[in-house]
Amino acid sequence: MKGSIVILTGAGISAESGIETFRAADGLWANHRVDEVATPEGFAANPVLVQNFYNQRRGQLRDEAIQAHAAHYALGKLEREYQGVVTVVTQNIDNLHEAGGSRRIIHMHGELLKSLCSSCGRREPLEGDLTVDMSCPACGRTGTLRPDVVWFGEMPYRMDEIMELLEECALFISIGTSGHVYPAAGFVETAAAHGARTIEINLEPSRIRSRFDEHRQGKAGELVPVLVEEILQGHIRF
Ligand code: APR
Repeated sequence: MKGSIVILTGAGISAESGIETFRAADGLWANHRVDEVATPEGFAANPVLVQNFYNQRRGQLRDEAIQAHAAHYALGKLEREYQGVVTVVTQNIDNLHEAGGSRRIIHMHGELLKSLCSSCGRREPLEGDLTVDMSCPACGRTGTLRPDVVWFGEMPYRMDEIMELLEECALFISIGTSGHVYPAAGFVETAAAHGARTIEINLEPSRIRSRFDEHRQGKAGELVPVLVEEILQGHIRF
């Protein structure tokens, strides 16, 4: 069994599928106030606005034009063909890694296609819109369903498991993330401190570029398939 690989992904890997990133000049955070749509306080203040924001984003995933692309498919191939464990840890709440064939996926910031009951904690698959007058299928309470996404001020999911994977991995790859948001931005340091080789693929130098052994600059759809072939052919030492 070869050394394990952890791949951290961010909004940049979904960009070529037509989903906007957060911090680009025309990105989501340029057009919306983060505290309004991505905090528990924002949800408490205006649940209709927040539900609509995520309903719109969930609706995007039903759009046939939004498809996984070469980078997602390459990561699916890596998981199938590499003789060791490959885990995708994604900050993305879309389902494009699933569409690209990855199976070991940790959605650390949650998933658009699930609802969460803030009263009983039940998570349910969700395809359509959430509205404030819906009731939870588990506890029956009304007005408690929210998108199962991790907002600012909330703890990302499965952190213990992620830390263990980072400490054990031999190769850590970061794709399409700006390095602004912790704890994900700190993963490279944890992996490197435990001996992993670290590679970043990003359209522009991320905030944490200097912490990687190697930085490859360009589009994920072009660079990820190349890196995956290099790994599968044994050209990357780790
Ligand atoms: N290929 C590779 N990288 C790209 C591409 C592309 N085609 N397009 C854009 N990028 C890069 C950008 O240069 C940028 O550095 O992807 C990065 C996206 O950064 P952000 O918009 O900050 O997204 P992300 O890092 O995923 O944000 C982290 O912040 O708002 C929160 O919870 C939200 O999960 C999100 C977190």
